[in-house]
Amino acid sequence: MKHKVRPLTSEDIPGALALCQMSGWNQLTTDWDRLLKHEPQGCFAVEANREIIATVTTTCYGRDLAWIGMMLVHENYRRQGIAGALIAKCLEHLRSRNIRCIKLDATPAGKLVYSQMGFRDEWSFHRWKRDGDSEATRRNLNLGTVHGEWNHELDQIAFGVDRREWLNRLAAHSCSVNYKEGCGMIREGHLASYIGPMIAGTAKTAAQVIDALLLITSRTTFWDVPQPNQDAVALAEENGFQPVRDLTRMWTGVELIPCDLSLQYALSDPGTG
Ligand SMILES: CC(C)(COP(=O)(O)OP(=O)(O)OC[C@H]1O[C@@H](n2cnc3c(N)ncnc32)[C@H](O)[C@@H]1OP(=O)(O)O)[C@@H](O)C(=O)NCCC(=O)NCCS
Repeated sequence: MKHKVRPLTSEDIPGALALCQMSGWNQLTTDWDRLLKHEPQGCFAVEANREIIATVTTTCYGRDLAWIGMMLVHENYRRQGIAGALIAKCLEHLRSRNIRCIKLDATPAGKLVYSQMGFRDEWSFHRWKRDGDSEATRRNLNLGTVHGEWNHELDQIAFGVDRREWLNRLAAHSCSVNYKEGCGMIREGHLASYIGPMIAGTAKTAAQVIDALLLITSRTTFWDVPQPNQDAVALAEENGFQPVRDLTRMWTGVELIPCDLSLQYALSDPGTG
């Protein structure tokens, strides 16, 4: 490959953001900032003619589990091996940290790359969308309002490992609704408000959390729903959401760190699980 993979820095964020918004993704500057602060040595870019033409990020949850996300290659530079080189860089970085299990959430295009690089399917999910008020703007979301404490014990069972540090970072840019048996966040995005992460011990609590979260925004809203959790799928349908994108959870590594999908109602983001 003629282009060099190098570390992504905070100066690259405007270029990375432009690339991801050009591709119709939902991230804002705060999302890039959060990823880079969490993993300053684990985010990578490719540059051509002084522009960012490809990105990828890693997010570690302790020593057992890490995510690869934000894999994007500018359409003029595809099929030149750039995604393959970025994945190889991430795997090198994560293996040097002895991470046991590496996961990612693949688009159909991404899956073509990852399946050749040793990633296996875990389960599938859809992005669900509910159209909002076309006049609604980002300002309608009252960020930072927090009800109660996130239930980290339940979260660890749902997600598979302790991701407290990451959740605290997310909460700083989200509105959280936390009951004892169920917690959820909503945050703003470029195209839509985004529901997630969300966990709940019962479908009844999940419905209460969703009702509270949906009151917070009148914009179009995205929600990534684990397909195996049929209570979550039913809740999305009841609330007027429709599936708009297919994604696949994939993994590689020494062992699969399992999660409890009966407790997971929304991902935190396909870039971070
Ligand atoms: C998916 C994406 C990152 C791939 O980037 P890329 O740099 O073109 O991928 P590579 O050149 O490294 O491809 C490696 C191999 O994957 C397979 N592959 C990649 N894209 C493919 C496509 N569109 N159709 C068929 N096979 C494909 C090929 O086998 C390819 O090797 P080859 O070109 O020698 O045949 C890029 O298409 C993209 O940014 N898409 C939009 C955003 C997205 O979906 N990102 C993935 C998020 S999970």
